[in-house]
Amino acid sequence: MNVDKARIVELPEAAVYQQQFTVRYDFPVHFTEGVFDRDNPLFERVLCRFEPAKRHRFAVFIDANVAASWPALAHEIAAYAKGRGTALELVAEPEIVPAGEQSKNDAALVTRLQQRLADLAIDRHSYVVGIGGGAVLDLVGYVAATTHRGVRHVRVPTTVLAQNDAGIGVKNGVNAFGRKNFLGCFAPPHAVLNDSRFLRTLHPRDRIAGIAEAVKVALIRDRVFFEWLEASATALRAFEPAATARMIRRCAELHLRQIGQGGDAFESGSARPLDYGHWVAHRLEALTAHELRHGEAVAIGVALDARYSVQVGMLPAGAEDRVYAMLKQIGFHLWHPALESRAASGRLHVLDGVAEFREHLGGELSITLLADLGRGEDVHDIDEDGVARAIAWLRRKEIGQ
Ligand SMILES: NC(=O)c1ccc[n+]([C@@H]2O[C@H](COP(=O)([O-])OP(=O)(O)OC[C@H]3O[C@@H](n4cnc5c(N)ncnc54)[C@H](O)[C@@H]3O)[C@@H](O)[C@H]2O)c1
Ligand SMILES: [Zn+2]
Repeated sequence: MNVDKARIVELPEAAVYQQQFTVRYDFPVHFTEGVFDRDNPLFERVLCRFEPAKRHRFAVFIDANVAASWPALAHEIAAYAKGRGTALELVAEPEIVPAGEQSKNDAALVTRLQQRLADLAIDRHSYVVGIGGGAVLDLVGYVAATTHRGVRHVRVPTTVLAQNDAGIGVKNGVNAFGRKNFLGCFAPPHAVLNDSRFLRTLHPRDRIAGIAEAVKVALIRDRVFFEWLEASATALRAFEPAATARMIRRCAELHLRQIGQGGDAFESGSARPLDYGHWVAHRLEALTAHELRHGEAVAIGVALDARYSVQVGMLPAGAEDRVYAMLKQIGFHLWHPALESRAASGRLHVLDGVAEFREHLGGELSITLLADLGRGEDVHDIDEDGVARAIAWLRRKEIGQ
């Protein structure tokens, strides 16, 4: 492009103020059991973190499946607040929110919850507490962040995936115009309270699905963790409490480290270092109309991208078989017919995931592959035939043809 030099005008210095400031964020991610037990001081302490002498108002939104699995929960929260009435004021009965990915697909629900906060006179010093899976937390976080330009929000993640990944980061958002997480914001929570007790009522599918994020982050960041996961696959599949707790803790730690120390917490650059395996996963979720859980789709993406990494000579051959074998041992089903669905032109639908990935961040395409077990490396180009070959490999492994 020819730049019209005549139009580049030197601005007189006095006409420019270079605005600059830094905002510091810090929030605790607690691990506890029985967060609303009367004798557990954690929730009160967390809400009183900034102004210990004040009485703090809070509103609560609960994932419908959590409310159904824990019928006494709303009552326990009310009793907890009552028992600590000098410090806490629950502004209304906890509100039940439709659960799962559908809660992120419903624009009217965002408005309804914002209206609820208006009705309850929630102000910027009050708290909005979200209790639920990653989907409900994304929704409630978005509602909190857009009300009064940001009300303090506390997340209580109740799935494996929300405790080790979705609930501990800085992103909030909902789906719109057929795109996942199209509307959203970076708004760190006031605090995160991971309560292991909630996990007891999880559907086995959701217990397993969340382990995919641990495998993912181990593969790109921590070989020792990968080998531990490999050795613990049977215990994890059986949801043994000690192995599960360790898996969640280490996975959360690695995510927190990347967000806090990776240098790009609000993702202004082109890289998405925590999204290994996700370009396929996001597309698969959409192609299956969310029949696949996020974690289930991630497990497929993790296996495929391991194979693709071998094909392009980045990862030593045989490593992809290890990744595949461990995911199987944990209990993942690693095939969905949507992997092979094609447009009229014959092009695989999943390949649209590459373009979506690029479009989401802007800038150069950046996809993390594996340079070794425990070491991710970004590439800027994906070979479509290579993806088709990786899919054929997975098909042979999974259904033998
Ligand atoms: N904000 C982020 O940084 C981030 C990161 C990763 C994923 N995510 C999002 O997180 C979502 C996936 O989260 P998820 O895997 O937790 O799925 P989910 O929220 O859909 O929860 C899975 C199912 O478990 C139910 N459930 C939740 N807790 C339960 C409990 N204790 N007992 C019984 N049932 C319970 C839910 O109602 C739902 O039906 C996706 O929307 C994904 O995009 C967000
Ligand atoms: Zn994910």
